[in-house]
Amino acid sequence: MPATNNLVLVGYGKMGRLIEQLAPEYDFAVTERLDEYNNVDGAGIPALRNVDVAIEFSTPETAPGNLKKLAETKIQAVTGTTGWLDRLPEVEQAVRQAGTGLVWSPNFSVGVAVFRKLTALAAELMRDQKEYGAWAWEIHHDTKKDAPSGTLVHLVKTMQESGYTRGIDVSSSRAGKHPGTHEIGFDSAADTITLRHNARSREGFARGALQAARWILSHKGVYTFEEVLFGPRSAS
Ligand SMILES: NC(=O)c1ccc[n+]([C@@H]2O[C@H](COP(=O)([O-])OP(=O)(O)OC[C@H]3O[C@@H](n4cnc5c(N)ncnc54)[C@H](OP(=O)(O)O)[C@@H]3O)[C@@H](O)[C@H]2O)c1
Repeated sequence: MPATNNLVLVGYGKMGRLIEQLAPEYDFAVTERLDEYNNVDGAGIPALRNVDVAIEFSTPETAPGNLKKLAETKIQAVTGTTGWLDRLPEVEQAVRQAGTGLVWSPNFSVGVAVFRKLTALAAELMRDQKEYGAWAWEIHHDTKKDAPSGTLVHLVKTMQESGYTRGIDVSSSRAGKHPGTHEIGFDSAADTITLRHNARSREGFARGALQAARWILSHKGVYTFEEVLFGPRSAS
């Protein structure tokens, strides 16, 4: 039987609570929960002891500070918080300087990781098909704080990096309880191609984050969830 590892939850909202429920299936014992009350400006992190890994799902404003403090406290981490990636370089630097490990992803669904690879291929094939225009759209529940979603931003970047340099119409909707749909489309006078990923619930994100947490127990450096699934791109 695999040994049980100690897990700290940084951010105890919808995702943190769901990860706590599923943690025993991944041989994790949740030993601490940090939230906006006991972790103002990351103040709860330096006092943590006997932690094997932390999973961080908080807010765009608090994630970079939390991740830098986790690195300084020599704690391996996984983060799914979105809307802060302009600050990724400073977080990467802190992790490398500390010699710890971090997995980050705006989306911990295995299906979305595959969807992004399909998007890259479609964008490459459409690169020179000038009669087609492209769009990128997403919908989420009305409490989601950032728009467009981190996943959509990543998909659009993927299209551009795959050689699709024409305009991409990007839009977002926020309504009801929707767990998340992402869509990439190409349209011409002759036809339409639509690639769509529907999340049925948050469970897939929570399971992906727990899978990444097990993986980072034995890795140092900065990785995306795709590297966890499909293998590291190069030494991080
Ligand atoms: N990567 C993925 O697969 C994935 C999937 C789902 C969600 N997400 C992202 O993950 C993040 C959290 O999502 P969620 O649905 O769990 O949101 P949520 O229910 O709003 O939970 C976020 C929690 O973090 C708390 N928080 C605020 N300041 C904090 C601090 N200093 N330290 C620790 N926690 C603090 C928030 O408190 P207050 O509400 O009082 O501020 C809230 O309880 C969002 O950025 C969301 O977009 C990513």
